[in-house]
Amino acid sequence: MSNMVVFGSQWGDEGKGKVVDMLAEKADAIVRFQGGNNAGHTLVVDGEQCILHLIPSGILHPGKQCLIGNGVVLDPFVFCQELDKLAAKGVDVSASRVMISKKTHVIMPYHCRMDAARESSRSEDGRIGTTGRGIGPCYEDKMHRCGIRAGDFADPELLKQKISTALEEKNVLFKHLYGVEPMDAQAVFDEVLPVAERLVPYLGDVSSAIQAADCVLFEGAQGTHLDIDHGTYPFVTSSNTVTANAASGSGCSPRVLDRIIAIVKAYTTRVGSGPFPTELLDADGDYLQSQGHEFGATTGRKRRCGWLDLVVLKESARLNGPTELAITKLDVLSGLKEVKLCVGYEYKGGTIAYPPQEQNGMAYVTPVYETLPGWDEDISDARSWDDLPENAVKYLRRIEEISGVKIGIVSVGPDRVQTF
Ligand code: GDP
Ligand code: IMO
Ligand code: MG
Repeated sequence: MSNMVVFGSQWGDEGKGKVVDMLAEKADAIVRFQGGNNAGHTLVVDGEQCILHLIPSGILHPGKQCLIGNGVVLDPFVFCQELDKLAAKGVDVSASRVMISKKTHVIMPYHCRMDAARESSRSEDGRIGTTGRGIGPCYEDKMHRCGIRAGDFADPELLKQKISTALEEKNVLFKHLYGVEPMDAQAVFDEVLPVAERLVPYLGDVSSAIQAADCVLFEGAQGTHLDIDHGTYPFVTSSNTVTANAASGSGCSPRVLDRIIAIVKAYTTRVGSGPFPTELLDADGDYLQSQGHEFGATTGRKRRCGWLDLVVLKESARLNGPTELAITKLDVLSGLKEVKLCVGYEYKGGTIAYPPQEQNGMAYVTPVYETLPGWDEDISDARSWDDLPENAVKYLRRIEEISGVKIGIVSVGPDRVQTF
């Protein structure tokens, strides 16, 4: 059986959680390979909503293994809260099916404080609009080679020493640069120890678990244009969100990645700051926002909305190599007289088909649109291409033509079953 990778092709919140939940039925194991609880992945099963931040979106399928790879940054408090919430719903979250790599870096309380301090020290237009979950500072420590890894939770002495060392430097910054309260190493250790001890039974060798499984589903978080290298830097997240990282972020060879599924929202949204060429600040934008219930699943912030940007999608196809597209939220477009597709950018006196590479170049492009007729019909009960109005089919076919990638999945509502 073939392995699958699901990734976000835009700026996150494309509907990855829903598609992963749907595909998890075919997999033995579902693995997160990057990001942390900045992610908010929404699943709806039999009308009941479940938002996951860390635990892979296969957890609602009994018996499937849920793995957290080395490329993730894990907040142990949030992880425990998520375990408790799921357990209260009767979901089996025992260590027999949930595993954390010993190499996974953990988010400490001082990372969250640093995230907040950095954001508030930035000028209004330099602010990234992070989720405030300590993601960037935790990855910084990883790269700086002073991070705490989940495996260290089995060794309280080592944990204590690492917290102490980390705070020596951070407290200088807290106190003298950012003007915030420094943190006491012993108090942090005392706060973390109970959750650290609770996590120990979940520690394992994720790489070997992947090797042993027949079919693995790799669950991307965020989106390609939030990638630390390929996104709209510096308005990005702190990890590689592209599919290549599915291998290094979980401990397997890139040769095992077979089916690569790009999740494409039928329009575009973005939370936080940064350029967004097709953003709509008019009634159409408000329509997408309200019809699509576009509020962040992690922070509750209103999502910025705009037309589907095929320049962004083509770049995602180039970087991730999708074998198919999964178009989500097509139902949200119902009721619009016309729908627009961005097919190129005007930039520096010419037209370009790919995003400019220089920093913030995306802020200076003007989208070139192709306008297509809209449709009025409610399509949330559609279960095949034949159930779609002609104009919706035209819209989808045009996306395939311009992106050069076939559509394999269409989603017409939040529920697991509203898919074909
Ligand atoms: P993710 O971060 O990529 O998993 O996406 P989020 O869960 O943050 O945001 C997607 C939102 O759209 C969630 O509220 C989903 O329940 C919802 N959703 C997913 N697919 C569809 C769809 O086809 N139609 C509609 N109307 N909602 C959808
Ligand atoms: P999912 O997996 C949408 C955005 C933040 C901010 C930037 C950096 O649900 O698609 P960070 O806290 O990561 O340092 O913030 O990235 N961001 C997301 N936007 N969906 C997400 O995840 C996101 N995770 C981070 O809003 O602009
Ligand atoms: Mg989300």
